[in-house]
Formats: sequence, C-alpha cells, structure tokens
Amino acid sequence: MNCAAFIVVTTSLLFLTDAVNPYHNTDKDKELQYLMEPPVYAGIKARRGENTTLPCVLRTVPSHYKVKWSKVEPLHTGVENIVLISNGHEVKYYGTWQSKASLRRMHALDISLRLIKLELQDCGLYQCELINGIDEESVTITLSIEGVVFPYQSSHGRYKFSYLEAKNACAKQDATLATYTQLYMEWTEGLEWCNAGWLNDGTVNYPILNPRPACGKDLPPGIRSYGPRHKTKEHYDAFCFTSTTEGSVFYVPGPLNFLEAARACKEKGASLARVGQLYSSWKFLGLERCDGGWLDDGSVRFPIIIPKERCGGITHPGVHSFGFPKKSISLYGAYCYR
Ligand SMILES: *[C@@H]1O[C@H](CO)[C@@H](O)[C@H](O)[C@H]1NC(C)=O
Repeated sequence: MNCAAFIVVTTSLLFLTDAVNPYHNTDKDKELQYLMEPPVYAGIKARRGENTTLPCVLRTVPSHYKVKWSKVEPLHTGVENIVLISNGHEVKYYGTWQSKASLRRMHALDISLRLIKLELQDCGLYQCELINGIDEESVTITLSIEGVVFPYQSSHGRYKFSYLEAKNACAKQDATLATYTQLYMEWTEGLEWCNAGWLNDGTVNYPILNPRPACGKDLPPGIRSYGPRHKTKEHYDAFCFTSTTEGSVFYVPGPLNFLEAARACKEKGASLARVGQLYSSWKFLGLERCDGGWLDDGSVRFPIIIPKERCGGITHPGVHSFGFPKKSISLYGAYCYR
C-alpha cells in the first residue's frame, strides 16, 4: 500500500505481502458475486502529470445498483474520502474530484476509475464498491506514483521542523512528505540518512544501510523508527517525495554568488531549481555534474550518478550537499529549472 499509514514495522515480510497483493477483495470470506476478482495482482504505477485508469469490472449488470469509488488511504481528518457515486446513469462527484476523476465506461461492464493529471498526493489505496440493494462488495487497488525520496534539512540546521513545517518545507521544494512505503522503496535503492525525519503519517524514521555506533548501533540494516511523534512540540528533519517534472534542470557555471546565480537563471528564461526538481532531473533524466551550484532555497548541491575519484572522493551516487553557504560571499555555479 503505497501511501499506507500502517504502523511502522521494518520487517520486509509485511511489506512484501502488501506489495505483491495490493489489489484484493476486501471481504475475504465472501465470493464476489457482482465484481470481477482481478486476475492481475499488481498495483497501478504512474508518474506525475500522467493519466491513469484504476480497473474495476462488473460480472453482470444488476438492475439497480450504485458504484462508489473512494480513496481509503491516506485518510485525511478521519472523514471518508468519496471520489464519486454513480447509479449507472448519473455520476455525483465529491470534493475537488470532478476536475480529476471520471467513470471510464468503455463497455457495459466497465466501472473503472479514470484519473487525469496525476499529482503526488493522488497516490494511495482506492476502493471500488458495488452496492446492490442490501448487498455490497468491493475491491481495492493501490496507485503508486513513481518518484524519488530525499531527506531535507532546514537552513537553520538539524532537527528544526515541526510536522507542519516539514510538510511546508517539502511543498516548497516541489515535493510532498514521503510515505513509509516510499521511504522503504528508496532505502532498497540505496538511500541512507543518519538523521530522523518526518513522514506524512506523523511518524519519524531514518533509513540505514551500514549500522555504526552513531547510526542505529548494531541493529540490522533497515528503517529505524521512532514511531508517531508529537506534531508541534517535537522537531526533526523531513523526508520529501517528488516525481517527474515538466521541465528540466541545467547547470550554469560560476563563479556566482546567490543573487548572481538567480539572475543568471533568469537571463535564460529559467529560475533557480528547487531541491525536488534537482532530484527529479538526477533520477529521471540522468543529470550528473561534479560542480556545486546554488538552488532556490539557498543551498548548494551537485548530482552524481557514477562516483569518480576526482569528484571530491564521493563514494556513492546521489545528490550531495554543501549545506547553506553564505549567500553574498560564497561562489558556485547555478542549477536552473526551465
Ligand atoms: C490526459 O487527459 C486529458 C483529458 O482527457 C488530456 O487533455 C491530456 O492530453 C491527457 N494527457 C496525457 C499525458 O495523455
């Protein structure tokens, strides 16, 4: 379950059972009467900006019925998040879903949900429910957005974000707070970060590959969890999640201070890249450059895909950071986004 707010357990077993069977009949003991048991056990994967369809198919068309699509997870403020309800003829949309969702209706038995212009927060668990008189049954399906997770620290230093500040910090970097599953996926691809950060379910975690005294001691490699923390009184870093972007990031050589870097981007019809945009170009477009460059938040970073000796002894791929140098006197290149 991609956006699942499930209790944090680091065993890969739980994750795997979730991952291989994310699309299932929610009424385990009941044979489905009206809905097709999906033959394909896979969640739907898409990228930001794409259109996608969450399949749901009737076996037969009952004489009177209702179709209800809802988003089950993550749940916001405990209210049921209904996408739409249809009686087979008319469709009633809820909230802001009208601009994004529709019933596909490709054939008489098709009650699949079509979603357009996917955004980061559209990922999660969806439910297709058939209501026929007093009978009801449902299947669920997971939508995951392909993306990249990155740790984010305040310019004021380590552990400065409340939960809400972490959420806003990610938004400013063209990202959302990551889910546990998204962090786990990034860990399997090599993310290690020895500082604890907020996830969108309000828990605090950090991913470790090589346990050492300062980082998780002799526990096995995995996601360390502090569990749910106090959202206003406690302060940590953030784990942000972003996906593909419409534009791309390019480098402008220095030496430039921060203001000159911003101007250099502007002259090229671009603006200083946000951290999420740099990660996205690194991950999805193969951007690599052994030169520190200013970003919009005042940090200086550089993206590496294949570590090389002559690039400062960097030993692992990733977007590396020089932190937040003094804006007026430090000289670097610029990473621009257009
Ligand atoms: C997604 O659907 C919308 C509306 O139907 C359409 O305008 C747009 O071109 C589609 N986008 C892609 C990437 O197919």
